[in-house]
Amino acid sequence: MERSLSIELVRVTEAAALASSRWMGRGVKDEADDAATTAMRTVLDTIPMQGTVVIGEGEMDEAPMLYIGEKLGTGDGPGVDVAVDPLEGTEIVAQGTWNALAVIAIADKGTLLHAPDMYMDKIAVGREAVGKIDINAPVIENLKAVAKAKNKEIEDVVATVLDRPRHAELIKEIREAGARIKLIPNGDVAAAINTAFDGTGVDILLGSGGAPEGVLAATALKCLGGEIQGKLVPSNAEEIARCQKMGIQDLNKVFYMNDFCSGDDAIFAATGVTDGELLKGVQFKGSKVTTQTVVMRAKSGTVRFIDGEHSLKKKPNLVIQ
Ligand code: FBP
Repeated sequence: MERSLSIELVRVTEAAALASSRWMGRGVKDEADDAATTAMRTVLDTIPMQGTVVIGEGEMDEAPMLYIGEKLGTGDGPGVDVAVDPLEGTEIVAQGTWNALAVIAIADKGTLLHAPDMYMDKIAVGREAVGKIDINAPVIENLKAVAKAKNKEIEDVVATVLDRPRHAELIKEIREAGARIKLIPNGDVAAAINTAFDGTGVDILLGSGGAPEGVLAATALKCLGGEIQGKLVPSNAEEIARCQKMGIQDLNKVFYMNDFCSGDDAIFAATGVTDGELLKGVQFKGSKVTTQTVVMRAKSGTVRFIDGEHSLKKKPNLVIQ
């Protein structure tokens, strides 16, 4: 993949973040998601690549754009798999809370996991704890391993967990082990990425969230030298059948980094829509609008933070094709 694709992806997530930020705090999710999706789709077709959506807004018959299998880009350039979440955290934007992101990842064609839209159990950590975690091990063992790897006491380990009734037992186990918990209302892509950055104050992500979000997080962690493991959690016969159709016979199969993203190269970009530990959200300042984006590449290991300043006078719709 050409390295210049990194900056192209920044344009994509900036556009999605700018468009959806108009809906921040307005109490509606779908409008924010639609705005992000339309903006993202518009910019994607200006990029010199032959992209195919593998993680998107749904199947062809249920999503008008960015559906799985959709072709993206100008048709020149490298063949790539594309994973998108134009607005990761629709409810976050509706409520105006923390860590909503516009997210995209691309990787060499055929290398990203085509994860079905269902829950996945996840465990994610940053570089220091790579190779030390095991999704099948008891929670306390993973917390001890992270504490040891990061040279801290277990009392100082902070686990991020989605605040859901299904996590009641997990939350109890983490607290009994002596670790601390940051409960989040939504947004486990940001939570997974945050484990790989010093200064975010979190060490490990535990619990179940969307499987497509797992692929996006894995791509970011591949660039950052971190690790995520996942196990699909089909909740009914239809979801079990979907797993089997994908060739997953063993429902206890653990997805490791190479299952999520099997190639050497991947590029990941995320722009903050609302403020988070890692990225500032979109801010309107008179005729200027500012964005903050992280973009990173697995092959080179380069991580860039890009501050954008956008002119409402020149881009009244916040997107220029
Ligand atoms: P959306 O942007 O699709 O609303 O997803 C937000 C999110 O919190 C994800 O980060 C997470 O993986 C998933 O929802 C968890 O699903 P649920 O809300 O059903 O527990």
